[in-house]
Parts: sequence; structure tokens; C-alpha cells
Amino acid sequence: MDAMTSTTTSAFAPSAAENSDERRPGSEWWRTAVIYQIYPRSFADASGDGIGDIPGITARLDDLVSLGVDAVWLSPFYRSPQNDAGYDVADYCDVDPLFGTLADVDEMLAEAHGRGIRVIVDLVPNHSSDRHVWFQEALAAGPGSAERARYMFRDGRGEDGELPPNNWESVFGGPAWTRVTEADGRPGQWYLHLFDSSQPDFDWSNPVVQEEFRRILRFWLDRGVDGFRVDVAHGLVKSDGLPDHLPAVDADSMGGGDEDVPYWGQEGVHEIYRDWNRVLAEYGGDRALCAEAWLPTVDKTALWVRPDEMHQAFNFPYLMTAWDAAAIREVISESLRAFPAVGAPATWVLSNHDVVRHASRLALTAENPQGHGIGPDSPGQPIPDVGLRRARAATTVMLALPGSAYVYQGEELGLPEVIDLPDDARQDPTWFRTAHERYGRDGCRVPIPWDADAPAYGFSPTGASWLPQPADWAPLARSAQEGDADSTLWLYRSLLATRRSTGLGAGTLEWLDGYGEDVLAFRVQAEGGAVTVIANVGTEPVALPAATVLVASEPFEGGLLPVDTAVWLATD
Ligand code: BGC
Repeated sequence: MDAMTSTTTSAFAPSAAENSDERRPGSEWWRTAVIYQIYPRSFADASGDGIGDIPGITARLDDLVSLGVDAVWLSPFYRSPQNDAGYDVADYCDVDPLFGTLADVDEMLAEAHGRGIRVIVDLVPNHSSDRHVWFQEALAAGPGSAERARYMFRDGRGEDGELPPNNWESVFGGPAWTRVTEADGRPGQWYLHLFDSSQPDFDWSNPVVQEEFRRILRFWLDRGVDGFRVDVAHGLVKSDGLPDHLPAVDADSMGGGDEDVPYWGQEGVHEIYRDWNRVLAEYGGDRALCAEAWLPTVDKTALWVRPDEMHQAFNFPYLMTAWDAAAIREVISESLRAFPAVGAPATWVLSNHDVVRHASRLALTAENPQGHGIGPDSPGQPIPDVGLRRARAATTVMLALPGSAYVYQGEELGLPEVIDLPDDARQDPTWFRTAHERYGRDGCRVPIPWDADAPAYGFSPTGASWLPQPADWAPLARSAQEGDADSTLWLYRSLLATRRSTGLGAGTLEWLDGYGEDVLAFRVQAEGGAVTVIANVGTEPVALPAATVLVASEPFEGGLLPVDTAVWLATD
């Protein structure tokens, strides 16, 4: 029944002895950590203005300790006009008053570290806000100036420069170029923005830009952060001469498919990360760089984590894999081959602030490219009641895999995507730049419910919430799940506690045969024992071997594993 078919070894998996010295290569914390993504504006609002903040995070750290995570990653809290929810940074070294102060961040860091939780912050190097002082200076200084050379200003094509310099399109929809009005009132140059027009791209060939980001890294490293999640890490360098993107039709996704896109994955980005790797190495304590690089394959993603570059890269090919046993098995095998081959841990992620939450996405019946979102009129609405079961099973599989895993706030509550947000509540620039054709990402960003009986489900003391929360979320609130051993919250707690006690996250994975093609079955030999994982991705119950159930994604009786369910079994 459980004959071994293939073995995938995480060559750099640490032994307990190695773990005793965190600086020894191969034993760094980020190789096996479970990292919880906090999206600050939607996590916990202490001030009562309806937008989550840093003091709100500090006040909730004990909940993250009881959940059992090792680290948190915070999406941006820097000074920003918030046109793209903070991914439009006006000052990289200050905190937006919406979220608090630098002193609040220092306190949050100290409180997190005091509880053994590491803190990764977001770095947004591809572009700034148009309110950044550099961009304001660039507008004022005019063509040919050193101020403009920090961004991607170009003359337009056409007789009077009235056409954009090339045909690139913004990820959020519409053209990637905007024309400025010069000081004399005449239409002037164009600037590049791969995202919103309020997010001008830096020119990374300029040493001044390079030096500024070294300064920003050191500013936060000096404050004690444990690393950086690097936004759009595949986009900083653009192809020489800024050639048209051919074919011109597929520029709306972050991955760019298999084609060569002149602004994604250019060779020059790697030199930047080698440089940053050296900056982090000046500091102790295993600081980490994690690449947000939407690349079509695991092999391409692994180029970002070669030994002298970043430490982790999000495994988006895994995230984008449908609920299909063969496809999941393939991406896991490829990941456990490709990442360790360059000395990096595999990483795993199912949800974040840019994609449809996996409690809905895994039951979608049509493709949904990253960032497009779903709304009431989208094709392929999720099959009712199926999404959460699949999400719980998928997480049960993910948290057993060798490597580091990311969990997005609210998935431990089983939150679905909010599909029916009122149109006038939506705030994602995608919604506006596509004339409401794409709903965008607001549905996965709704403030999370803490207390079933409190205003705004305990998200804010006043009941204010920057996006409306669904009226039926009381049963999903943390308080409602506390007393229910079958809740999603308790499933996550059990998975994380068992992961810790058995040493999962490291170890060696072998696939097990004989369960049928709709079943994922593998054994992980970890430091604290062996665990067999079986996930029923098919349509019929699956007979389980006799073994102690450590954790199950759904309650079940007898030896038959129900559909859309996964278990961890103790194994000799
Ligand atoms: C972030 C998005 C953001 C974009 C532009 C991303 O990939 O995760 O939320 O809109 O970069 O900064």
C-alpha cells in the first residue's frame, strides 16, 4: 500500500544539533519557519479610525503566540498617500500616522522579539509614491536633470512626443506611461509606472537609487527587523532601450507567462540582490530577504535564491496550482528539487493580500489570474461549501512540507473571499484602472473578525472598518472558534503545534504509492518522528492504513478518509 516511489530530500534540512547554533549555514530560522502575514490596515485597529495600526498589532501578539507561528511579515506601514494601500511609499523611513509612529514600531518589535516572534517588513524598491520628495523634485527639475534620472522619464514618440515611449501596460490596467506637464505649462516627458500612475518606477541603473536603498535597508536593520519581503522583486531592471513588449496583449499579469517580458526577470536584478545580501550579512542573527517574484515556473523562481542572493522566494507556482492531485504533486516535487538545488529552502504559500483567498479560490470553476479578484458578476463562482473543506485540506498538506510556509491573516479563521462588496466600497486601483472590469483585491483584504459580539467583530473599538465586513461573519470570529475543537482556528493550532513537536518543516519527503491518482500521499521523515500525510483530492472516500491520527482537516470516523480531507498519521 505504501511502497516508496520517489524520494525528495531537503539537502539543507537542519538537524537538532545544527539548530543549536543559528548562524551555522543550513540551520537558519527562515529555512523552516511559519511566517504569518499581517496586512496592517485590516488586522487590528487600536485607534478606532477603522484602519488597523501598529499598536493594534502589538496588542494581539499573544494571539499569534497561541496560534504557534514563528515570525510575522508586515505589509507596508510607511508614509504613503495610500493609493495602493501603502505600496506607494512617500517616505521609506517613517511610519504613516494612520498606522502609528516609529516608537510604536520599536515597541512592537521589542514585544514580538520578547515572545520569540521574528519580524519581517516590506520593502518596495520598484517604485515610490508620486508624493515622494524625489519625484516631486524630478517634476520640478525638468528633462535631463539628475532629479529625473532617479526615475524612468523618457521623451514620447510621435511628432510632438504625444505617444508613450513604448507599448507597455500597467499591471493594474491601462498604459504604463503617464505624460507630465512641464514647468512652462506644456505637455512634456513621460514617466514609467508598471503599477498605478501614482507609483513611478525608479531607475535602478542609477547608483544614487542603489545607495538610497542600502541606506533604507540599514535604517530598518538597525532598528532590529529580521528581514525584508521584497515587493515586485522581478521588476526592478528593465530591458535596455525599453523595447515594446511583443505580443502586446498579455501584459496584465505579474508573471508574464513563458514569454520574454522586457520588464520582468531581467538578468540585472540579481546583482542588486547580491549587493543586498552583503548588506544583510553585515548584521548578525540570520536576517532574511524574501522575493515577491511572480515567475511562471519553480525553476525560474529558484534563480532569486541562489546562495549569494535572496534567502527565500514565494512559491507562486504552488499557490496558483488548482485542486488537482497530479498537479499538486508535480509542483511539490519540482519545488523540493529546484530550491534545495541552489541551497535554499522550498517555500509554500496559499493566500496573500493580492489573490482570492484559498477558502474560495480552491472552489472556483474558472481561472482567476493573480490580482483580478472576483465579484458578483465574475464567471466561475466558487462551488458553495466546498472551498473551506479544500482550504483546510490544502493547508494540512502545506504545513507538513519541508521548507518555510506563509500564512495570511484570517486564513486561520477560514475566511472566504468577500465577493459582494458594494461597488462604492472598493478601493483597489485595479478596479478603477480597468473601468470596473476587474474587481481587484479588496475581497481578500476585509478587516478580520476577532470578537463575534463586538462592533466590527472586535476589529476596532468604534465599529469602524475601512471595508465593510459581511453580516454573517460572527461564527468565523476568533472568539466564536475558541471553544470549538473542530474549528479552523483549532486546526491551524494543532497543525502548528504538531509541526513543531515532530520537527516538520525540515526532513525528507517520500511519495507513497497505491492510494490512487486522486490522492496525495507522502511520508516526511523529520527529527521528531515520521509523519504520513494523505489528502483525498478525489470524489470517493479513501481507505487509510491503521495508524494514529495526529491531525485531520475534518472530523471523520472509521478508516475512510472523506473527500476533500487530509490527515497526518503517526508513522513508524
Ligand atoms: C504587492 C501589491 C502591490 C504591487 C505594487 C505587489 O506585488 O503585493 O499589493 O499592489 O506589488 O507595489
